[in-house]
Amino acid sequence: MKALVYREFGNIDVFQIAEQPEPTIERDEVLVKVKAFSINPLDWKIRKGEMKLMSGSKFPRYTGTDFSGIVEEVGSTVTDLKKGDEVFGVVKNMKTGASAEYISVSSSLVWKKPSGINFFQAASIPVVGTAAVNAMEKMGNLSSETKVLVNGATGGFGMFLLQLLKQRGANVTAVTSTHGTEFAKQWGASALLNYTKDDVLSHKATFDIVVDLSGKLSYKDARPIMKAKSLFLNSTPQPIEIPTSFIKNLFTSKKHIVILSSPSAKATDILLNAVNKGLQVEVNRVFSFSKYKEAFEYAEKGGYVGKVVVEMDCRVAASDGTIRTN
Ligand SMILES: NC(=O)c1ccc[n+]([C@@H]2O[C@H](COP(=O)([O-])OP(=O)(O)OC[C@H]3O[C@@H](n4cnc5c(N)ncnc54)[C@H](OP(=O)(O)O)[C@@H]3O)[C@@H](O)[C@H]2O)c1
Repeated sequence: MKALVYREFGNIDVFQIAEQPEPTIERDEVLVKVKAFSINPLDWKIRKGEMKLMSGSKFPRYTGTDFSGIVEEVGSTVTDLKKGDEVFGVVKNMKTGASAEYISVSSSLVWKKPSGINFFQAASIPVVGTAAVNAMEKMGNLSSETKVLVNGATGGFGMFLLQLLKQRGANVTAVTSTHGTEFAKQWGASALLNYTKDDVLSHKATFDIVVDLSGKLSYKDARPIMKAKSLFLNSTPQPIEIPTSFIKNLFTSKKHIVILSSPSAKATDILLNAVNKGLQVEVNRVFSFSKYKEAFEYAEKGGYVGKVVVEMDCRVAASDGTIRTN
């Protein structure tokens, strides 16, 4: 089978398409024929070697964390999935990736795809959707009186968070660039700031909750726009901030909360419920597998709304030498 792999940390040019044996599965795993994988900032942070502590340094490795596809085979203890099911899910532990024609995955991280969304939308859900659910859980009770600022509101994470916050009735100010404003309004923002024109920190308003999804607004900088009793949710914490924020929070009512989410069945249920109630999953662009370079360049450059997806539509030489298109 074909797989997108890399054998050293680095920029996009470390990627290669390799011919690999199909994986085998353990008792609690499923073999999935991948239809699509979405690109998350996590994927390029791992590829650049920025997360070695968690990802390890074993090569070769695949990329891509979220995927959708069709179940080809199930392990002997798997009871809730069967061959032919349309599914989506996430690979485990930052150690492997979804960028191959077939992947073996723990069945606990694979869910049936709802019929109302396509494979590209399904592959866009797990990492950022789960993180948005996790962020909501950290916020506690919300009402129309709760003023929330979401900085970086129309990327993958923001798309889910804004719509979940709308379903919970919070009063959200969304910070976007110009092309994101219409989406942010549609997804439930009651006020908008354009970061290319407005300085968020010079605004008079103060917030009960500030969420940074851009990696550019620190807790320290955000303190002046936080109410006396408030939360700052940090989606891109430095490892040292995990213990230090915990200790500092004992002495301040402006709390610094680190988001470290991992996909779970519980979070996925909440997301699928929200999708059933009308949560939109915006896929900005789908690139074919042969255009993987362009896909990563586009995703890493930013400046789009929603998610970027790679379709595993590779042409594969069959054993009889003919070419089939998947
Ligand atoms: N801790 C966790 O569990 C967890 C889980 C998932 C993701 N994350 C992290 O959360 C962050 C967001 O994820 P994502 O998938 O949503 O990434 P993304 O799609 O790249 O979104 C980032 C957003 O930030 C906006 N932005 C860029 N510069 C900005 C600025 N100066 N001010 C305000 N907004 C700005 C971008 O807008 P434009 O593109 O329009 O410029 C974009 O909408 C990433 O760093 C990711 O690694 C953490």
